[in-house]
Amino acid sequence: MPPRTVYLETFGCQMNELDSELVAGRLRQLGYRFTAEAGEADVVLYNTCSVRERAEQKVWSRLGEIKKRKADEPSLVVGVLGCMAERDGEAMIDRMPVVDVLCGPGELDKLPELIDNAVRTRASLASDGSGRRARRSARQVALQGSASRRSGTLAAAGDTLELLDLSRTISPVDEGRSRSAYVRITRGCNKFCTYCVVPNTRGAEMHRPPENILDECKRLADSGVIEITLLGQTVNHYRFEHGASVSVGGVVQPQKGRTYKGAHHRDALSAAGVTTFADLLRRIHDEIPAIRRLRFVTSYPRDFGDDVLEVIRDSPRICRYLHVPAQSGSNRVLKAMNRGYTVEAYFEFLDRARAILDQPELGRPLMISGDVIVGFPTETDADFEATIDMVRRSRAKNQFIFKYSPRPGSLAFDKIPDDVPESVKRQRNNALLAVQGEISDEISREQIGREFDILVEGLSRAEKKRRGVDIKPGSGMVGITVGGAPASAKPETDIAEAAGLAQFSGRTDGDQIVFFDVDTTIQAPDDLIGSIVRVRIDNADKLALQGTLI
Ligand code: SAH
Ligand code: SF4
Ligand code: F3S
Repeated sequence: MPPRTVYLETFGCQMNELDSELVAGRLRQLGYRFTAEAGEADVVLYNTCSVRERAEQKVWSRLGEIKKRKADEPSLVVGVLGCMAERDGEAMIDRMPVVDVLCGPGELDKLPELIDNAVRTRASLASDGSGRRARRSARQVALQGSASRRSGTLAAAGDTLELLDLSRTISPVDEGRSRSAYVRITRGCNKFCTYCVVPNTRGAEMHRPPENILDECKRLADSGVIEITLLGQTVNHYRFEHGASVSVGGVVQPQKGRTYKGAHHRDALSAAGVTTFADLLRRIHDEIPAIRRLRFVTSYPRDFGDDVLEVIRDSPRICRYLHVPAQSGSNRVLKAMNRGYTVEAYFEFLDRARAILDQPELGRPLMISGDVIVGFPTETDADFEATIDMVRRSRAKNQFIFKYSPRPGSLAFDKIPDDVPESVKRQRNNALLAVQGEISDEISREQIGREFDILVEGLSRAEKKRRGVDIKPGSGMVGITVGGAPASAKPETDIAEAAGLAQFSGRTDGDQIVFFDVDTTIQAPDDLIGSIVRVRIDNADKLALQGTLI
């Protein structure tokens, strides 16, 4: 096969960013090259998100654009990966016949084979000019469908996806890779919040064997990574029973998640050969000191035992940052969302977390962030007032606020009509943003005068703009392109241009953004990026802190 050039664009959450990195690594091993320019690629892949309608709209518009190009280039291969592929299924091909490859997030280990088949058939179709019907049969599809929620043991035994994580290729940091990395600890979700598609797109909750996780973290640390973020939809629900392990081809397989009552009997559990989330954190922290920062997302409010909070308190390299979405402040709405906790239980958790972890006097304030949905069906003004109260009382450093978006396939979609008008959703969204803005501003200002360890990320955006450095979309819920460098590429500082006084940005271990100036004639930017420096905060607003190197 002649070398193929791939363009891979990622939408959605960190889980998708990691999937893209793993897939890109596999494809590179097989001889594919990557480009940051879609126009140069003969394989165009979109790793997609279904969480809100807007996320899907972006992909539909990309597909609309590529349709025009494919009319002139019939050998072009177009693939849709990820949650939208899984949610829409083959209906997607009916709507957009331009799609050749469809691969759900639970089937990504099969992607190289699918692409290879598609490339071969495309090439032959292009050369003999066969008609539309032949093209349709050439489609390459791998979806989990209803199999994603098979019985636990079967699912565990058949979880070849573990091999994808295990085959992760880790290039050394000095080859342009970022010093931060994601590591998956659980897949899927069993919570079935009524607004959410994730349990359908990502399948049943599975917990990876701790040895595999530790091994991956060690390999990342050996390659120069100093910050690891553990990923899971309800990451603090992690639990692995060693006696119950299933091995396939010598590989210990992930286990199906189960509901359990907190981790109150920690010692008894450990004796029985169980690795709890607290155990896992402690092991990564203690066994891999080269990891200077360990964080994890997303936490579920109900599953936090004191054992986890105490491990965080006692482990200096675990970040004092918890992303724990409450979603609403109204117990009636929380119930309709099937969140499984009350707002009182959420506050009880926050109080407990702050009592154990908030130590501003040691330069280690606890930072909380959350997610809120406004305009969930039936949400009244009184429910919304309760959400405002919840946001005020939570004092999170930031809240991600979303307008409810009805998702086909979620439980609420069929059962509860989307009855809050768009204009009301917008008003509530703006009102909440204003309230949170004040809180973020206050919390930022409280940091003035304090000193923090900052992990330096690169030139600030403003500095890049001043220097005319090309700014690519950032991480988070925006599109990310996998170009020549591995997925989480180093911030593209134009180092040669950065001589003189330059503004850099970095983060505290509480995930607050900090800007500070560096005299680059004294300190080489290359040595600074990815290092941890000490900064005193002189100024602040709701978005960021400003400080001075000390
Ligand atoms: N597992 C995580 C969240 C995953 S989705 C958790 O439970 O916290 C990320 C966020 O998107 C959710 O926290 C929720 O606030 C938002 N979200 C999910 N489905 C949504 C929908 N249908 N409409 C609007 N926001 C939604
Ligand atoms: Fe979705 Fe709820 Fe699972 Fe989060 S916990 S992924 S919101 S179903
Ligand atoms: Fe989106 Fe799937 Fe993540 S729906 S938020 S990409 S788990």
